[in-house]
Amino acid sequence: MRIPGIAAALTAVAVPLCLASGASRVVHASPDAHAGQTDGGASPTHPATAGPTWSRDLAPVFYRNCTTCHHPGGAGPFSLLDYDDAKRRGPQILTVTQSRYMPPWLPEPGYGDFADVRRLSDADRDLIKRWVNAGMPQGDPSIAPAPPRYDATWQLGKPDLILTAARSFSLPAGGTDVFRNLILPYPLNETHYIRALEIRPSAPRVVHHANILIDRTASLRSQHPNDWRNGIPGMELLMDAGNRFDPDSHFLFWKPDTPALVEPDGMPLRLDPGNDLVLNIHLKPSGKPETISAQIGLYFTSGPPKHFPMLLQLDRDDALDIPPGDNHFVVEDSLTLPVDVDVLGVYPHAHYLGRDLEGWAITPEGKKKWLVWIRNWDIDRQSVYHYREPVFLPRGSVLHMRYTYDNSAANVHNPVSPPVRVRAGNRSTDEMSHLWLQVLPVNTPPHSPDPRLLLEEAWMRNRLRKMPNDRVSLYNLAAALAGQNKFAGAETVYEQELKLDPKDARTLTALGAALEGAGQWQDAEARYHDAIDAAGNDPSGACDARFDLSNLELRHQDAKDAESDFRAQLAACPEDAEVHAGLGATLSNEGDTNSAAAEFLRALALDAQNVSALEGLGAIEADGGQNDEAIRHLGAAVRLDASSANAHEQLARAYAQSGQSENALAELRKAALLKPDDPLPHSVLSQLLAATGALDQAIDEQRAALRLSGNDADGWNNLGVIEVRAGRIDAARADFEHALRLAPDHAQARANLARLNARQ
Ligand code: HEC
Repeated sequence: MRIPGIAAALTAVAVPLCLASGASRVVHASPDAHAGQTDGGASPTHPATAGPTWSRDLAPVFYRNCTTCHHPGGAGPFSLLDYDDAKRRGPQILTVTQSRYMPPWLPEPGYGDFADVRRLSDADRDLIKRWVNAGMPQGDPSIAPAPPRYDATWQLGKPDLILTAARSFSLPAGGTDVFRNLILPYPLNETHYIRALEIRPSAPRVVHHANILIDRTASLRSQHPNDWRNGIPGMELLMDAGNRFDPDSHFLFWKPDTPALVEPDGMPLRLDPGNDLVLNIHLKPSGKPETISAQIGLYFTSGPPKHFPMLLQLDRDDALDIPPGDNHFVVEDSLTLPVDVDVLGVYPHAHYLGRDLEGWAITPEGKKKWLVWIRNWDIDRQSVYHYREPVFLPRGSVLHMRYTYDNSAANVHNPVSPPVRVRAGNRSTDEMSHLWLQVLPVNTPPHSPDPRLLLEEAWMRNRLRKMPNDRVSLYNLAAALAGQNKFAGAETVYEQELKLDPKDARTLTALGAALEGAGQWQDAEARYHDAIDAAGNDPSGACDARFDLSNLELRHQDAKDAESDFRAQLAACPEDAEVHAGLGATLSNEGDTNSAAAEFLRALALDAQNVSALEGLGAIEADGGQNDEAIRHLGAAVRLDASSANAHEQLARAYAQSGQSENALAELRKAALLKPDDPLPHSVLSQLLAATGALDQAIDEQRAALRLSGNDADGWNNLGVIEVRAGRIDAARADFEHALRLAPDHAQARANLARLNARQ
């Protein structure tokens, strides 16, 4: 069954791009850029000589703290590479460094320990002060370090893959800010894991910030089939996350002075065939018309992710209604963590009226841990902050945010004069109140549901307390419940959402899937029909419902029509991996393994992670004795979805056939845990254990199987056979007799009993 995706409307709200001024250009330091810099916060001072000089003391400070932006073509408005550059601006530099206006860095020290802190040390500020006050002496130019070189090549070397926006578009010389979403389809036919990516807009001077969203189902492109190549305007995107719970996990946030995003070890991003990268850019007209295009460079790594972080949001947009003149408008939000997490990064976000932004956590013991504090918010300097060391928060900790807004005329950032009432929204003159956290669930107990589903559930319940009719939250909450097999709860929430829009095909389909999960397949069938009706003359809107309906018919009714059903669906949804996989399963049922394998391969070409296709293909391969291929495909299937008992059983078979009995046993035990009511994994386990000579364990497993299906004459006979081998003759005799009571003409049991009696 497929449960249509967690709606990605949240993706769109995620890390929205906001206004900022100032020109920027992507220019990168070459590896030797920092040649000559000193370590540590303070520069060396030489008490032997009279005072600090540019050549000896100041150049290293500027090269370390200023020139990444202040070089020709950089984000800063002028260069600070040479003595003359710096001397000309001496007094201004003194002012902006004493006030900490430069370098731009918002978080208060001591309230979150961040990596890549861009704050000047007190020693460096003091050095600048003494140098400016001493008349800015140059000193001996021959001892000055070589200035760093900045060039416009890829910062991390040549990317493994470069994506280029299909078409450029023109940004007018003037007017308001422009938000554009450039769609860059991922063109490869296989999955890759991305350890780093770099964004290169063609006219970086007019791009203030950018971020990348991953559209797993290319939904944005299909919503705009004719014009997507020109880029889609707007900030708010609704994307369909597909059928897999695959929440946004990384801050893909671009700033002019840090264009390359390197993901931590073990946490690469996954890109599958059919994914799109959406480059969400915020442009500020510069006074002359510009042609905008962009490239994204991707750097691959071989291994799949080992850790699965998730982005989590606190927000109080619903409470934003700031009267004009109010200089102390406060909103708060809090969220209790249902699991242990490591907090990896934080992204506070407000627009121009935000002034004081606080984020912290209270642990269950009542201890306060600061996550971030920004005392003088400035949207132009917004950034994602990564912690130097992850901040551990045990389950039960409460995350808090408190944002204070200033809508008075005294706020120099206030975009409107005189001030007006301001509410939440996506325009720069609207406000926002978001605190995003990147969290990594840790200490997850074995056999518990995906901890991200629990986080999603807690997050959505929190949103619904504030906005009871928020459809995205209702949908996502229901999907998170269904993902934990809490079908009854999911049903209730989907019903609630349908009260708001009874004709929503996606929700109807998801409700059907939840009903099917709960075993109410007739009700499920009715909901799938409702979904197909609701989709009306948009046939692709009913792909999921038709697919689920065919599968349901295949399982519960006449299977004969299933093949033609799936073929009919391919007409409306030709690129649908699941439909190919479903057709493959039907053909496989009908015994047409060659055609079945071909359909599974087609499904995998469209979606290398399609679990049903991996499972179906692997089973065919195991049947044909292609054990290595079977192990590869079935192994991938259970890694992607550890909840399919059938996949574990098939994998066990392939392992057993290739003589790897330890692995086979391990897979069978997993299958037995997943199907506590199913005797089959236990009896197969028993056979395997018996084959390896572990007779006592084999007997235990067969007994476990018979506890679940006591009327299985074969099972009693098999138990007897193992008992004979273990020398437990009396028990064996009793069990053969038991088999014969259940099935008086059980030939094997009769023969076994006769043989036993003959031995005596
Ligand atoms: C992350 C990029 C960045 C870094 C690092 C940076 N600056 Fe700037 N700087 C800017 C930008 C952008 C502006 C112009 C817009 C603004 O004022 O924010 C600017 C403006 C200035 C100004 C003019 C201020 C005014 O009032 O017009 C001075 C002086 C300055 N920077 C000095 C420095 C010094 C000194 C350092 C290092 C100690 C530094 N900057 C580090 C980006 C940077």
